[in-house]
Amino acid sequence: MRFANSQATTYNDTVVRQFAVMTVVWGVVGMLVGVIIAAQLAWPELNLGVPWLSYGRLRPLHTNPVIFAFGGCGLFATAYYVVQRTCQVRLFADKLAAFTFWGWQLVILAAVISLPLGFTQSKEYAELEWPIDILITLVWVSFAVVFFGTVGTRKVKHIYVANWFFGAFIIAVAMLHLVNSAAIPVGYMKSYSAYAGVQDAMVQWWYGHNAVGFFLTAGFLGMMYYFIPKQAERPVYSYRLSIVHFWALIFTYMWAGPHHLHYTALPDWTQSVGMVFSLILLAPSWGGMINGIMTLSGAWHKLRDDPILRFLIVSLSFYGMSTFEGPMMSIKTVNALSHYTDWTIGHVHSGALGWVGLVTIGSLYYLIPRLFGQKQMYSPKAVEVHFWTATIGIVIYIAAMWIAGVMQGLMWRAVNPDGTLTYTFVESVKATYPFYVLRLLGGLLYLGGMLIMLWNMVKTATAGRSVIVTIPVAAAHA
Ligand code: HEM
Ligand code: HEM
Repeated sequence: MRFANSQATTYNDTVVRQFAVMTVVWGVVGMLVGVIIAAQLAWPELNLGVPWLSYGRLRPLHTNPVIFAFGGCGLFATAYYVVQRTCQVRLFADKLAAFTFWGWQLVILAAVISLPLGFTQSKEYAELEWPIDILITLVWVSFAVVFFGTVGTRKVKHIYVANWFFGAFIIAVAMLHLVNSAAIPVGYMKSYSAYAGVQDAMVQWWYGHNAVGFFLTAGFLGMMYYFIPKQAERPVYSYRLSIVHFWALIFTYMWAGPHHLHYTALPDWTQSVGMVFSLILLAPSWGGMINGIMTLSGAWHKLRDDPILRFLIVSLSFYGMSTFEGPMMSIKTVNALSHYTDWTIGHVHSGALGWVGLVTIGSLYYLIPRLFGQKQMYSPKAVEVHFWTATIGIVIYIAAMWIAGVMQGLMWRAVNPDGTLTYTFVESVKATYPFYVLRLLGGLLYLGGMLIMLWNMVKTATAGRSVIVTIPVAAAHA
């Protein structure tokens, strides 16, 4: 590795700090709405008869903040931190980086206001209306300029693998957003999709699946490749595998979208292509997971007393679990049972809470003390408590949804010898009730963990402030 200057580089950590703080804040907000809608599914009258508290409006107010605000701010924070350290250079264009922070917060605020008011393009994970879509485009292009500008002005020859994943995430999301959001505006907050019928569905699920592959996976793999080696103090298990992992994952994800449209008007062969690519996707996904976990070779003992490393490694176990389950669910005959059931919700949250949530939380626990000039979090004990509440919460949530999902699928397809249905739909809803209450309990535990993290972060940040004040005084007496 070649270092071009011997002077210490001053990094732009202001924007990293801002994004890191907002990751935790939006995490609490998004998960609180998740808990509310989980409660509404158990007790529907909790919408209190108010339209903007109704389930249909609150659901996207859960998915948008958890994916784009919690996940998004976490990705901005870590991408900006990692690219500076691995390129040994300050972030390119400070002002543009600041614009990405304020612009992204504005996007989220616009979502938080417009979704409960009922403005929506009705495309899942792409609900926001066209003026907000334009703002997203401006912020995203600026993100790309800042990120690739930093890579372009790097002081080391090599581009570390984490940056490949962050870079692919930025390019792919730009492409997905531009294609899927193409629409004809007919009012200041109303538009119609540029596509119609089955083409619209195909474009939407090409977007939807790659939102999973690139927004919820590739960027987080970038986190994995930086923060696991750092926290474990070990090099990546196999750098060669990380390159194969990168290209195989990027190539395969793009083709798997049709598994969301099994047994629909989409041509049958297209569904089969989606299924085959989904099955192939198991290999790169597990290659990446193994590479991350094996980075701990020779350092397994660290798991015993390092909760941050535990967050990171357990996140990979959930990644492995959901990327095994996903390919299985993409098999048409399995999907015939799982589709429309809570099994899908269980799969989503083993990926979302287990993989995305835990890897973000682990990376932030690494970052926060460093960003506030501290050696460690204010309360390492609270990090430990957070780990256990989150992990137990996930297990309760996903186990409840798996059981509920398989039960629903079996009840809906059960037929009597005379060909009539064995169960009415309402009977399956009644049978699901205890599992919805259990899911709420799991969600409350996970949210509880986030609240502990928020408290710990505020304490760490304010302790940092008193250190900054006291150091010169101490130095003056020295
Ligand atoms: C306290 C934690 C959470 C709770 C209680 C919770 C609860 C829920 C509930 C009740 C639903 C609606 C399910 C349905 O319509 O049947 C949902 C959907 C969803 N949640 Fe969460 N959630 C939590 C955290 C998260 C996180 C952290 C993410 C992402 C990083 C996430 C991503 C999603 C997605 C993508 C959906 C839509 C799933 C689909 O349409 O198949 N959730 N969540
Ligand atoms: C090899 C990797 C994966 C494959 C092949 C896969 C496959 C699938 C399949 C077949 C479905 C059900 C579609 C349906 O019946 O409607 C699904 C749904 C979903 N998966 Fe995965 N999955 C994978 C990994 C993940 C991961 C890691 C996450 C989260 C971080 C995730 C998030 C989701 C979401 C959010 C949905 C629900 C989409 C919706 O209907 O709104 N998946 N996935």
